[in-house]
Amino acid sequence: MSITITPSKKINGIIEVPGDKSISHRLAMLCALANGTSEINNFLCSEDCLNTLHAVEKLGAKIKQQDKHITITGTGGKFTQPSRYLDMGNSGTGMRLLCGLLAGQGFSATLIGDESLSSRPMKRISSPLELMGAKIELTGDRGCAPIKITGGILNGITYSLPMASAQVKSAILLAGLFAKGTTEVIEPKETRDHTEQIFKAMGIPVRIDGLSVSIIGYAGGSIPLTPGNWQVPGDFSSAAFWITAAACRKGATVTIKNVGLNKRRTALVDVLRRMGTDIECIPHDTDNCEPIGNITVKGNQLSGTEISGNEIPNLIDELPLVAVAGALATGKTIISDAAELRVKETDRIATVATNLKKLGVAVEEKADGMIITGPNKINGNITLDSYGDHRIAMAMAVLSQHANAPVQINNTDCIATSYPDFEKDLISLTQTNRSNQSDRTDNNSL
Ligand code: S3P
Repeated sequence: MSITITPSKKINGIIEVPGDKSISHRLAMLCALANGTSEINNFLCSEDCLNTLHAVEKLGAKIKQQDKHITITGTGGKFTQPSRYLDMGNSGTGMRLLCGLLAGQGFSATLIGDESLSSRPMKRISSPLELMGAKIELTGDRGCAPIKITGGILNGITYSLPMASAQVKSAILLAGLFAKGTTEVIEPKETRDHTEQIFKAMGIPVRIDGLSVSIIGYAGGSIPLTPGNWQVPGDFSSAAFWITAAACRKGATVTIKNVGLNKRRTALVDVLRRMGTDIECIPHDTDNCEPIGNITVKGNQLSGTEISGNEIPNLIDELPLVAVAGALATGKTIISDAAELRVKETDRIATVATNLKKLGVAVEEKADGMIITGPNKINGNITLDSYGDHRIAMAMAVLSQHANAPVQINNTDCIATSYPDFEKDLISLTQTNRSNQSDRTDNNSL
């Protein structure tokens, strides 16, 4: 499928985005492990999280779904062996976190994924999980999925992460639930902490000391995960498309309601403020296990900035949008220390740079980031490719609003992995008098 973006100068309105992807995956898994029945409200019903839900169902959890409301009756800590492989689709989070839980089970299971997921590095989780006592075969090419994992009796380890990755940290901590003794993960930089927050909310003590996160395992005993009634905040990474779209358009005002405001996710707000955007974040639900609030953005002519170091993990998924803002900003926007972008759903340094060049943007690709010089006039009458990466498709749709003629984006089915209603929301925020702002086509011609 492809979409054609008809540029629009308008971006205004009030919107809610779907539930947080990282939190939906984690709640599905931990409620499936808990002893009792949990309710999850505002679950993200996108392909990635539904794959996780199907996987935990195959592992013995009882699931009832009514739209975005999910009821999960957990297995009390023991999954049952699935009769077939577990298909995690496009989701690195789903695959890596589930391996953490399967490491502590008394059976073998095989996890598979789509072409993109089958080319992403998995040694980063198999190495620590094997050190803990699981047996893992990476049967794909060069240390990739399919993954055959045989759970076992686990021992806690102290593990210094070679890269800043919340997925790897989480896989180890999830395995740590089943281990004997203490499991400690030492991060090189702070990464998103949803696993730690949900552990605490479900009654698992977590010790955090600077960059060290540790838990004491429940080897052989029952894991005291308390079932509950959970509210998933709107996904900041989905809100980020509208935050950036509004930030880059002088005179625009957009409010996004009920968004997750976890500080380890919102570094894009700091970056856009530095670039000249007026952004207000007002938390209104701080009792939830993750803070929720409203974000109001007023657009401006932005100026370039530098993004590196500790800020990177806290906006890792938003970096394609930082590049979009950089393309429209005055001066240089320099992104560095972001080599992890090369092992996302696509090599996002390459796929962003290729698309930006097609749009006429001055961009220089670096091993660990890129340098963008702006402001740029954005070319229309061209065809871009998402290369199967949802965030590339959506980020390019935001930038294409500024083109001088329509832009076609190919390969947009992937948007359904995280934000199935993206196109509808784009139309509602940007449509003027036209009834339809973007056109869906099933062919590849403009
Ligand atoms: C995620 C962590 C991030 C992010 C991904 C979701 C998570 O990856 O890119 O979309 O839910 O833990 P890292 O493992 O690189 O931190």
